[in-house]
Amino acid sequence: MAVTFLEADRLGRRWDDPEPEPPDAAASRRWIDFVGHLLSTDPGGCHVAEESGDIVGFAISQNRGRVWYLATYGVLPDRQGRGIGRRLMDAVLAHADGRPGLFSATTHPAATRRYRLAGFTLHPQMRMVGRVDRSTLPAIGGLRDGRPDDLEWMDRLDTSLRGGGHGPDHLHMLHTLRLVVSDARDHRGYVYIDPHRDRPALLAAENVPTAETLLWEALAATRDQTLVNCVTTANHWAVDVGLAARLDLDQEGYLALRGMPEPFPYLASGHYL
Ligand SMILES: CC(C)(COP(=O)(O)OP(=O)(O)OC[C@H]1O[C@@H](n2cnc3c(N)ncnc32)[C@H](O)[C@@H]1OP(=O)(O)O)[C@@H](O)C(=O)NCCC(=O)NCCS
Repeated sequence: MAVTFLEADRLGRRWDDPEPEPPDAAASRRWIDFVGHLLSTDPGGCHVAEESGDIVGFAISQNRGRVWYLATYGVLPDRQGRGIGRRLMDAVLAHADGRPGLFSATTHPAATRRYRLAGFTLHPQMRMVGRVDRSTLPAIGGLRDGRPDDLEWMDRLDTSLRGGGHGPDHLHMLHTLRLVVSDARDHRGYVYIDPHRDRPALLAAENVPTAETLLWEALAATRDQTLVNCVTTANHWAVDVGLAARLDLDQEGYLALRGMPEPFPYLASGHYL
């Protein structure tokens, strides 16, 4: 995965992006732990392609109740364009068994071609990057750190926004990320903050004011260069918060959807969706 995505990042690098780097040992460990969680939760959605005993491609997808998502997908650079990706995609879509589905897509030409041919609608994503101007941070109230007994209503909120809850992924995120919730009646919502990468990782809310408050809280927690990604056009409220915090706006890939409208107000996680 590291080799495939390093090469894809190099090819897709823009003039003002930092030079892509391979993941360090700690990031690799987190990634292996994440894929291990998916493998043990829904192994039937995880496929690899083998050639002479070596793994040359992978497609890791999951069913969560009535929703399917693709967490990661790639073929080694020197094996691309030979139909391996197509077979992997066919395998994970068979596992989806017609469920509505979603994933965050790169702009790699072979990837976008595969996704559209597989029937997904590609919603362009924006992202906000930079260092938060701390003088813009508003006073925030009504939030607290999340706990395991929040996960039930969080799954109900997910279901109303994307057709299904994150289920066991919430438990995994609770152990690996910081969870902040708003649990007041009619103002429910949550945000996971990734302390390793200094950025919000997944945000869902009942309404826009709650989503805005949660995003401000996540931005207040950042110390360094941050990134708010997976912002689809339905979620311009996040663009407004990012601009107010003096982050810069640009574009990044697509949210690929099948059988569901654009989730709103919602910022998907690139890997847990
Ligand atoms: C996306 C990816 C997994 C597809 O795997 P693959 O083995 O290359 O896919 P396939 O060969 O089955 O199909 C790719 C399609 O795009 C075409 N294609 C391949 N490389 C291309 C390129 N550089 N430009 C345009 N089209 C290309 C192929 O002709 C094929 O179309 P066809 O089946 O209609 O002829 C692989 O290219 C990859 O790992 N890309 C980098 C990582 C990435 O972006 N992953 C997606 C994360 S969301």
